[in-house]
Amino acid sequence: MLFTALVALLVTLVLWALYFRRSRLPNEPPLDRGAVPWLGHALAFGKDAAKFLSKMKEKHGDIFTVQAAGKFVTVLLDPHSYDAVVWESNNKLDFNKYACLLMERMFDVRLPDYDPATEKAMMKLHLQNKSLHMLTKAMFSNLNTILLHDREKLSPEWKEEGLFAFGYSVMMRAGYLTLYGNESVHYNNPLLQTKDLEHSAEVYNEFYQLDQLLMKLARSMLSTEEKKEATRIKKHLWELLSRRRLNAKVNRSSWLDSYRSHLEELGVDDVMQSKALLLQLWATQGNAGPAAFWLLFFLLKHPDAMAAVQAELESVYKGKGQETEAIKQEDLDSTPTFDSVLSETLRLTGTPFITREVLEDMPLKLADGREYRLRKGDRLCLFPYLSPQMDSEVYKDPEKFKYDRFLNADGTKKEDFYKGGKKLKYYNMPWGAGNNVCIGKLHAINSIKQFVFILLTNFDLELKDPDEKIPSFDTSRYGFGMVQPRSDVKIHYKRKKSVRW
Ligand code: HEM
Repeated sequence: MLFTALVALLVTLVLWALYFRRSRLPNEPPLDRGAVPWLGHALAFGKDAAKFLSKMKEKHGDIFTVQAAGKFVTVLLDPHSYDAVVWESNNKLDFNKYACLLMERMFDVRLPDYDPATEKAMMKLHLQNKSLHMLTKAMFSNLNTILLHDREKLSPEWKEEGLFAFGYSVMMRAGYLTLYGNESVHYNNPLLQTKDLEHSAEVYNEFYQLDQLLMKLARSMLSTEEKKEATRIKKHLWELLSRRRLNAKVNRSSWLDSYRSHLEELGVDDVMQSKALLLQLWATQGNAGPAAFWLLFFLLKHPDAMAAVQAELESVYKGKGQETEAIKQEDLDSTPTFDSVLSETLRLTGTPFITREVLEDMPLKLADGREYRLRKGDRLCLFPYLSPQMDSEVYKDPEKFKYDRFLNADGTKKEDFYKGGKKLKYYNMPWGAGNNVCIGKLHAINSIKQFVFILLTNFDLELKDPDEKIPSFDTSRYGFGMVQPRSDVKIHYKRKKSVRW
């Protein structure tokens, strides 16, 4: 019975797809529907977008349209032409529709009268400018709690751990405490810090398990068991982020309080507020930890880079950075070598899609004068990871880590990169660009810098296997920000007997 129904459904789908078969109209980008009706290239796209889109680029050039699960997606891979997309008005190329779809699918969030522009303007105010200093100070304090007050990390004996687990958990726990608040007023009191250590570990453990299911959730590909597990974890996290729990916290960031007031004004009930706060937990904590992991991994793999960063940290921070002091912004801004290492790390591992829904039939003019037509109802997608970030025309040996790639000979920041003999405006785009660039970028950079500073100042660390290869990527994460390694990399670390600087 079920089999017959399935066959009937399949036949209907095939007939439907054949009947409504789309063909390429004049001036439209090359069209590649794939062999399977309706489904098109969905599986290859989702499994490894970098591999699939590279193949399509070889076949069709830097703009083409592919079919994936009933949707037609036009992919643009010419970085000189990205301006025509990233600044286009939301009335033509809409960012919100697809974002809302993912919000609901991944986090069960539906907000009434949701206006992302208002929300974004409010959040910017609390993640940048004057608020940045408060966040930096709180992050420094929370990193100290997590790194220097955890008994397990205190002993001067060598310990073994996975670097990804280590980096992600420290960054996420400290980042969470910074934005969502501490468990107790006197958070410099070691006894009371225990509460923050325990609570942030509980949140991280659940968050990490959910993070491992999110890519399948986004593609609606969870098995029944995985669905149950995702629901269980979400419920636990909603409770941890409930009004009652948050009201009991101290040192909540102005970002959190303003966001909660904003949800109140929208008339969002308590349950939906917790769901929205879990979505924000992922938006704010899902990338910085993996970025810190890759940066530390590349430093450990490249002793010349590690020596250059250590020398810079020593010269900038000598005599500063005691446990209870925040690091001044002017010091955080005086590290061109570290900045180059971070840019190079993100070039290699930052892989967001920039996605827009096409709301009306419209022309798309590329930088070299070519003009294409975009069709209403299609989706437009940029994948800067392929170009400019991994483009051999822009970067020599693009797959290699070169710590000084973003440094000029005089040690200043290098910003001139070329493609086709023309200087690129967008040469590295891990933070997105235009209307939906990351608004937490400055806080993220300060946080990663402080983490590495405290870590290298207070701990010795090394790869367990010095010949460790770069771990392969979990390719299902392409398009969602930072990639994660398929498997972890073991390190040895121990607390230094005395701090050198
Ligand atoms: C290395 C770390 C990070 C990277 C690579 C990164 C990257 C990105 C990217 C690519 C986007 C655009 C997403 C899209 O358009 O779909 C984004 C958005 C966003 N990021 Fe980050 N991010 C990082 C860390 C952070 C941190 C630490 C925060 C906050 C504390 C943050 C807050 C946000 C927010 C709120 C948005 C949504 C902005 C909007 O409404 O358009 N990010 N981030």
